[in-house]
Amino acid sequence: MEIFRNKEPLRAYVERQKEMGKKIGFAPTMGALHRGHISLYEVARKENDLVISSIFVNPTQFNNATDLEKYPRDIERDLKILKASGFVDAVYVPQTTDLYPDKVESKSYDFEGLETEMEGKSRPGHFDGVGTVVEELFRQVRPDNAYFGEKDFQQLAIIKKLVAILKLPVKIHGVSIYREENGLAMSSRNQRLSKPQKEAAKVLHQTLLKVNDWFRIITVPEIYDRVKDIFDDQAGMALEYFEIADEDTLKETDFFYKGHNYRAFIVVNVGDVRLIDNLHLD
Ligand code: PAJ
Repeated sequence: MEIFRNKEPLRAYVERQKEMGKKIGFAPTMGALHRGHISLYEVARKENDLVISSIFVNPTQFNNATDLEKYPRDIERDLKILKASGFVDAVYVPQTTDLYPDKVESKSYDFEGLETEMEGKSRPGHFDGVGTVVEELFRQVRPDNAYFGEKDFQQLAIIKKLVAILKLPVKIHGVSIYREENGLAMSSRNQRLSKPQKEAAKVLHQTLLKVNDWFRIITVPEIYDRVKDIFDDQAGMALEYFEIADEDTLKETDFFYKGHNYRAFIVVNVGDVRLIDNLHLD
């Protein structure tokens, strides 16, 4: 596995691969890798000649300095995981100046309202930060295909919009959520849960599955009431939001219209660990 720690060698490598006609698949990350990340590479491996990943903790997408500072960083561990997976040909671990040559600040994008829904409400500017770093990574890695987890469904939608706005020649693919055995969506934060908390946290996915059973059978407000009741009974857990939204606009809906796709989104705080999950309704 090749490791590039600066943009010049990465660019030269990409250039050589392109000249050989290689189709490049790319999955960017911030490290702290787990099976959820590996599932992106696994899909990318099947659809490309070459798989590239990146590890960069992007400062502009954090809303406060403590979160940025506390973000887990262990490059050597991550590189071992990448290598052991056998799915990745090259990894880009850029320096901040490779991605932000002048100032470490976000560009400002118009994601046509996608950025102000759900996660955007509590994290102003977050998606501008994500857009800025992903745009620059795309320009340097020049992938044919790029892979993002449905776990961060709003981010996936925003990246699709980014590529459309900028007319970048890359196809964006969503990869389904990789879950732990009890259904909990895999996340590096799960390590911060105690055993009983982790066991209790399966209620997120279980609730989403129930919502899917109720889909188009009871009304949207009735579903909201039932979800609220479930979490009222959960000690040590606080429901931050539950929303059913149109998959294309991410706008919350109060009714299931014909011909629209809907998805249920949930955020729950278990102790001080913020857990996020979602499910397509069908
Ligand atoms: P990070 O949180 O490291 O996630 C990298 C990718 O892994 C994202 O596309 C995310 O949706 C996906 N992922 C995480 N957990 C997953 C799971 N359980 N199942 C499937 N996919 C999962 O998202 C970011 O980094 C950053 O915002 C980034 C896009 C790299 C820009 O800085």
